[in-house]
Amino acid sequence: MLSKKTEFYRIQRLPPYVFAEVNKLKAQLRKEGQDIIDFGFGNPDQPTPKHVIDKLIETVQKPRTTGYSVSRGINGLRQACARYYDRRFGVSLDPETEIIATMGSKEGFANLAQAITEPGDVIYAPDPSYPLHAYGFVIAGAKIQPIPAITADEYLAGVKDALAKATKPPMAIVVCFPSNPTGHTAEISFYEEIVRIAHEHNIIILSDLAYSEIYFGEKPPSIFEVGGAKDVAVETTSLSKTYSMAGWRMGFAVGAPHLIAALARVKSYLDYGAFTPIQVAACAALDGPQDCVVAARETYKNRRDVMVESFGRAGWDIPSPDASMFVWAPLPESKAHMSSLEFAKELMIHAGAAVSPGVGFGSNGEGYVRVALVENEQRIRQAARNIRAYLETGD
Ligand SMILES: Cc1ncc(COP(=O)(O)O)c(C=O)c1O
Repeated sequence: MLSKKTEFYRIQRLPPYVFAEVNKLKAQLRKEGQDIIDFGFGNPDQPTPKHVIDKLIETVQKPRTTGYSVSRGINGLRQACARYYDRRFGVSLDPETEIIATMGSKEGFANLAQAITEPGDVIYAPDPSYPLHAYGFVIAGAKIQPIPAITADEYLAGVKDALAKATKPPMAIVVCFPSNPTGHTAEISFYEEIVRIAHEHNIIILSDLAYSEIYFGEKPPSIFEVGGAKDVAVETTSLSKTYSMAGWRMGFAVGAPHLIAALARVKSYLDYGAFTPIQVAACAALDGPQDCVVAARETYKNRRDVMVESFGRAGWDIPSPDASMFVWAPLPESKAHMSSLEFAKELMIHAGAAVSPGVGFGSNGEGYVRVALVENEQRIRQAARNIRAYLETGD
């Protein structure tokens, strides 16, 4: 009789996925015919710019573009990324040794974790944060030390405190500003301190800059604007949000040549790179007209303003984020006794609005929900009306 192994070492290291519970409820309510206004998933709802789609169609029709591509990205794409860093941050990168194209920044981050982790390595990761930041390393065999990180200042203080108490410094520190889920940003002085700490203690820094272009005030800096960062850091960026290309799976990891080489080595065993026409279209996105980026930023900003204002009038005061496509909202006062998961479920049942429970981003996210700016202004106002009724009557 075949006895099937059902428990696997890496899978056992992963906790149940909190968002799965919310998604299940959403599917059930929709099946029952309820209209759910979906602020749950950070999936851009805007179309990819036309010139990028046109470039994909043009390229896919050319001979020799449909075979295996290049794992670390075609030369022209790595050069386009270098031009972006130069133009946007005044940072010069060598496309040969300091840039690798990845299939979304998620793939780059996860495979870099695989490439550099020894079992038992300690990683400092923000809490709350995008789940990959901790679990990419957990899957790779590391031990995570979560550091409270609602703001950059809190994170920096937490990192310093943890270092002061540690017998051994961590192998790596993850930073992510603008933050998913909090929408908080970091100034250049934050990166200066992190780079100084990394040099002092011989620590690798992984900076996730997926929301580099979704900002409403000051432009978020890159860690490489700090001298010496290239010795210790890798930064991941993404076309997903900037150009509404989430499904295309296109991003970059850039920085310290020895870390980029390690990632390239792992990837050379695992993939043949993104489909060449997608890489060519990504060049068109980076090198082409940028008014689409200005328009996307404006759309998210308007939605943010409508949400903060209309939810506030409905009795739910939420802070206005400086960047990202998320509002990080403390539970309304009258619901503060609930867990974020209970509240998210209630909100969906009674107000037809799906949000992500804060606890899904780490235990420090308890007491909050994340509301993604992926529904239009009319739907946001509709949600606000439903929320008002729910908060006033309790159902
Ligand atoms: C902070 C952060 N990093 C990375 C990603 C993954 O982006 P990509 O589509 O480039 O893999 C996301 C997606 O939501 C994110 O919020």
